[in-house]
Amino acid sequence: MEVFTTPAPLRRHMEQFRGAAPVVLVPTMGALHEGHLELVRKGAEMGPVVVSIFVNPTQFGPGEDFEKYPRDLESDLEMLRPLGVEAVFVPSVSEVYGTGEEGVTIQPGDRARGLCGERRPGHFAGVLTVVARLFGMVRPDVAVFGRKDAQQCLVIKQMVNNLHLPVKLVDIPTVREPDGLAMSSRNRYLNDEQRQRATCLIAALRAGEQLLHAGVFDARELRRTMWDILAEGSDEPDYAEVVCVDTFTQPDLITGNTLLAVAARVGPARLIDNMVFRISDHAVSPGCLLG
Ligand code: PAF
Repeated sequence: MEVFTTPAPLRRHMEQFRGAAPVVLVPTMGALHEGHLELVRKGAEMGPVVVSIFVNPTQFGPGEDFEKYPRDLESDLEMLRPLGVEAVFVPSVSEVYGTGEEGVTIQPGDRARGLCGERRPGHFAGVLTVVARLFGMVRPDVAVFGRKDAQQCLVIKQMVNNLHLPVKLVDIPTVREPDGLAMSSRNRYLNDEQRQRATCLIAALRAGEQLLHAGVFDARELRRTMWDILAEGSDEPDYAEVVCVDTFTQPDLITGNTLLAVAARVGPARLIDNMVFRISDHAVSPGCLLG
């Protein structure tokens, strides 16, 4: 496993694999956990993996946790070593964004409306700008993202489609703690009491899922139920939404590929989670996000 801080030597290193197998990029902001490792394992089934580690300043808003976002490169590298990762790309801020110039940024399309896009103005422009730059620097054939960031997956998919970028996107199901809490680097901010209450996100989603299985397809009822559970367990519920994946609209009556998405603040951490279902002829089955 080689570590690179600039793109040209990284690309030269990956040249040996091109044509034989797809080069797979797993973009991360470090502070790796089992969820990231699962992205890497799944990526490695497809081809040689490059993991990028870059805490991207442009996707954090004023007053958000950019400064205190956990950074521990040595421990990240230790976790990646046994996984057969080919290269780790750890660029500096000036490598990604240049120095002193006002560079090109990417504005998201309508998939960034609502949910986190509404609550975190500028967040998805920052995500798309860095992902586009990482794609340009690494030139992957495949890029792997976690489904926990469902809206991020959809916003990136829209960019890749609209710009005809030659990269295949793959989303990997959320990895959960035994009690259902979605793994997240921000779980590190929680003390024991907050950690327990953080399960209100998965509890809200499971309640939504139960309603669907009981034949309740009224989106307002699901939103209300999920919101009430967040309101009880969290310090500040942010949203409890039901979204049609294909149109990214918020339906009254649930049908087709449907995203249940929740966000709430627990202690110092803003947490998000989601589930995707397919509803067809009143039957409920697992849905898909990018596929
Ligand atoms: O999901 C993340 O960790 C980040 O948003 C990403 C995709 C690495 C871009 O900074």
